[in-house]
Amino acid sequence: MTISELDGRAIPHETRLPAIMDALSGLAPGESLVLIAPHHPAKLLQLLLSEFPGGFDFGPLECGPAAWRWQFTARDAALPRSVTGYLVWDHRRMENLLEETLAAAVAGRWDDAHLHASRYATALRRHADLEDEVLFPAYESACGGFGDGPTAHMRAEHVEVRAGIDRLLRAVNARDAGAVRDADETLRRVALEHHAKEEEILFPSIDDTFPQPELDALVQRLLMA
Ligand SMILES: [Fe+2]
Ligand SMILES: [Fe+2]
Repeated sequence: MTISELDGRAIPHETRLPAIMDALSGLAPGESLVLIAPHHPAKLLQLLLSEFPGGFDFGPLECGPAAWRWQFTARDAALPRSVTGYLVWDHRRMENLLEETLAAAVAGRWDDAHLHASRYATALRRHADLEDEVLFPAYESACGGFGDGPTAHMRAEHVEVRAGIDRLLRAVNARDAGAVRDADETLRRVALEHHAKEEEILFPSIDDTFPQPELDALVQRLLMA
């Protein structure tokens, strides 16, 4: 899947922010754009949340030091926000990156494999962090604490997922297609099953726990994490 890119570094600083806002506001729901920025786009993300509340899903693909690459997908702002909606969007884009990594490695396109694997690692490490540090604590505190309940189980699986990412990166760096295939198989088993459990059970239950204004605030914290 190819997503069009906008290189913000090529736009003069004085007009950069309005030009990027123009490009993003021209996207129809479901359309995506990847922005390349010379620094963390925190100001842009805050502006999007205030000017177009509920209008975009977004997340990182690359976090410096030379470039910051963020993926944006427009959504219908009239539809209510949910944890399920945002994190399923994030799961699917990560699954695409894993598929692209394997396809490039098998075809011997190692520069592409390296690019996709490092973007997959950036997206998935950040995703696991935001669940561990923002989402699960919010849910646990709303439910009065869980002990060894569902979030503890998900945290333990994140440890396996992170180990799988390290293994994939080592295999790509070694340009070893067989090892990439093995790492991909493990990640498919561990990460895809993990995503399915979150999507079918945990996220809907989190969405049911919070009234809509609190859910909106929680999704905003996830977007900015
Ligand atoms: Fe997770
Ligand atoms: Fe997740």
